[in-house]
Amino acid sequence: MAKVKTASESLTIMTNIVLPNETNSLRNLFGGELLAKMDRCASISAARHCERRVVTASVNHVSFNHPIPEGGVVVLESKVSRAFSTSMEVYVDVWSDDPINQKKIHTNSGIYTFVAVDEFNRPIPIPDMIPETEEEKERYAAAFRRKELSLILSGRMKPLESVELKKLFQEPQEPQTSKKDKK
Ligand SMILES: CC(C)(COP(=O)(O)OP(=O)(O)OC[C@H]1O[C@@H](n2cnc3c(N)ncnc32)[C@H](O)[C@@H]1OP(=O)(O)O)[C@@H](O)C(=O)NCCC(=O)NCCS
Repeated sequence: MAKVKTASESLTIMTNIVLPNETNSLRNLFGGELLAKMDRCASISAARHCERRVVTASVNHVSFNHPIPEGGVVVLESKVSRAFSTSMEVYVDVWSDDPINQKKIHTNSGIYTFVAVDEFNRPIPIPDMIPETEEEKERYAAAFRRKELSLILSGRMKPLESVELKKLFQEPQEPQTSKKDKK
């Protein structure tokens, strides 16, 4: 197995049509159905990255910005955004695609954490991940903060133990003035 992989090696694309039994009373895709699709897509990306069995450790963030109507085409695209020691963050983007009018709207995104496990469900090391595009680099840079937040919210880390997250709440330091400046 490669020790380092690119984000694009974990790219997973799932395209489905929204069926009536997947919709809510407004005849739009039901949120829980979409979450299941996102989890499936993201888990394939995670397994592609580490070439191991993976489990969902956390759903860190999901936003629902636009509804996807019955009969519409839903496209999910996921990639590993950062690999840590045994866990990895996976970013899922969702689009509503209208092939007749050729309109594609970004409707949702979600951020998941997966852990690679052995046959006894024990976490095991995974390859590093190198971001290449600008978007991959931005997501990679912010992933450590999100990991810390997820660990705090799940009670696995105390807020004061965080490194990157704490920096967001710290007052900017006043530049130190020398005696010469004060004259
Ligand atoms: C996820 C699981 C394997 C972690 O096992 P564990 O013995 O607690 O392992 P650790 O504490 O060593 O954590 C392993 C990694 O997961 C990360 N992790 C665990 N919980 C996390 C969370 N809520 N958010 C972000 N990362 C998390 C840890 O930071 C660690 O990452 P690192 O090694 O890359 O630094 C275990 O909790 C589990 O099996 N959970 C059930 C998973 C499941 O059934 N999912 C299906 C959906 S319900």
